[in-house]
Amino acid sequence: MAENPPKPESQRLFTDFVRRFHVNFDGSFPDVETTLGPSSYALLAIEAEASALDGTAPVVLDLGCGSGRLSEVLLERGLPPENLIGVDFVAEQIERTRQRLNAPAVRLFLAQSQDLPLQDNSVDCVLNHMGLAVMVPVEATLKEVGRVLRSGGRMAVVVDGPPKEGSIDKLYNRILRETVAAEQPDVLRSVASEQDVSDPAVLARLVHLHTGMDLQAARSFELLMRMSVSEYLAFLEGEYLMRRLDEAGRQRVRDAVARLFDSYGDDQVVIPLAMQLMVFAKPPAQGHAVSKG
Ligand SMILES: C[S@@+](CC[C@H](N)C(=O)[O-])C[C@H]1O[C@@H](n2cnc3c(N)ncnc32)[C@H](O)[C@@H]1O
Repeated sequence: MAENPPKPESQRLFTDFVRRFHVNFDGSFPDVETTLGPSSYALLAIEAEASALDGTAPVVLDLGCGSGRLSEVLLERGLPPENLIGVDFVAEQIERTRQRLNAPAVRLFLAQSQDLPLQDNSVDCVLNHMGLAVMVPVEATLKEVGRVLRSGGRMAVVVDGPPKEGSIDKLYNRILRETVAAEQPDVLRSVASEQDVSDPAVLARLVHLHTGMDLQAARSFELLMRMSVSEYLAFLEGEYLMRRLDEAGRQRVRDAVARLFDSYGDDQVVIPLAMQLMVFAKPPAQGHAVSKG
């Protein structure tokens, strides 16, 4: 018996919210420098290139492709379009990707991460840029990843990292969570019913449990967002929890964040957002096999 039984109703409400939220979404942090140099999209593309077998181009799945920014980077770096697969469960996002790529050979599917329209062992590399935590139930998503990946294949993900003590990111998180907990505890409960995949140890354990894959590499880094306080406040309006507060709650968060920034005026500041890149590998043949159904 699982220690934390799934909560189908709160998962359904959360998933409905995620779907609506992404109808007009245009990518997570495009063109933002990172402390590792390349953008977070390019970091994943580099991992895909390292998944090639015998010098042939890898088959790559961009899971939760959104508006196609990662897929675009993959094609720009030379991945043949016929080797690229994109999946998202929002029709508008698939359409944006189609328009952005303008490459008919790319296979794009409107599908759920928990039920991929792909053959067993048909993909060399699964990439996920900032979407895994919302693909609930994450466990079912991971099982599907394990099924479609070939033996020896890899999964590389960029997920939120634990924010550094004293950072604006950490303070903002605290303010937001306190506000949500005070005003809409049910919202926080529905999110908290999911495992916290921003904890690398939790994610590594879940991946191993549901796919048999082991962690090959983990790198913490920061997205260096350069923006003024007003730009940062505008950015925060797009945060998942923020969007689930009512207007009074959102205003309280805005006021608290503005107070945090009092000393900066409205000049541009660098706001580091903690992230992590994690790479997993499926054991070579005779490893853990996960069948659909
Ligand atoms: C935060 S966005 C990231 C989009 C893109 N990877 C990027 O970083 O630019 C998460 C994406 O995952 C998609 N998504 C969320 N849950 C999903 C699910 N269960 N199945 C398929 N797609 C899902 C959303 O529609 C959204 O496009």
